[in-house]
Amino acid sequence: MARAAVGFKRVVALTGAGISAESGIPTFRDPEGFWQKHRPEELASPQGFRMNPKLVWDWYLSRAEAMKQANPNPGHLALALLQDCFEQVAVITQNVDGLHEAAGSRDVVEIHGSLKKARCTSCSLVFPLDKAGKTPDGLPACPECGRLARPDVVWFGEMIPEEALQRAFDLSASAQLFFVVGTSAVVHPAALLPSVASRAGALIVEVNPEETPVSSMARFVFRNRAGQAMPVIQEELCEAAKAQ
Ligand code: OAD
Repeated sequence: MARAAVGFKRVVALTGAGISAESGIPTFRDPEGFWQKHRPEELASPQGFRMNPKLVWDWYLSRAEAMKQANPNPGHLALALLQDCFEQVAVITQNVDGLHEAAGSRDVVEIHGSLKKARCTSCSLVFPLDKAGKTPDGLPACPECGRLARPDVVWFGEMIPEEALQRAFDLSASAQLFFVVGTSAVVHPAALLPSVASRAGALIVEVNPEETPVSSMARFVFRNRAGQAMPVIQEELCEAAKAQ
């Protein structure tokens, strides 16, 4: 695989919950995943939040707490190390856990938002979750106007913020090497990005223990966990880059 990428300058990775699985964070659709136990329309939709903001906040606050204890794993670290070997390395992630940045990745597009931030439902101020006040019901509140805040994440039925989406499409269209790591690739528009990259001529590499809709367009497929496959791939790519 490394030989096919010699001379490449632009690397992009699209990542999903699978890359954080080895950091102890459950995925969504695997047998132990969140969506086996919870209903996405109750916990991850604007309607669910309107119906029961406490239920939604309880879930997001418990995830935010769990993520504080989580550390980047060798999969995240390998992607960060690729920055030493290629001119441009960007990560487009559907994850809200901040582990790519914690691993040292400098160019991360969080297309589904971040669990570290909240947004006011009234004045739209975006602020760090740990700066939130409290509503009379004890839910996170805007530090400016005191109204109810919501997690600053993208829910089902909501649009990805324009700037992040545009960047994700631009990066995908100009990538030479495009990794798809730990995502079931079924949630749009993220699921479209591998085909954008493929149509523009990128070499697609999938890392996932399971088959996905991306598998058929990937030139190389590693049916392995990200924490095992990515360090080996990174070392081979960096050795080949140094040797040229
Ligand atoms: P999913 O739970 O849909 O998929 C996780 C993928 O990771 C599966 O294809 C697994 O086979 C794979 N996987 C599991 N362990 C792995 C490991 N150790 N290494 C590599 N791969 C592994 O998660 P996403 O694709 O991220 O959105 O889901 C996309 C979106 O759907 C999420 O951002 C979330 C969810 O509903 C919202 O909440 C809006």
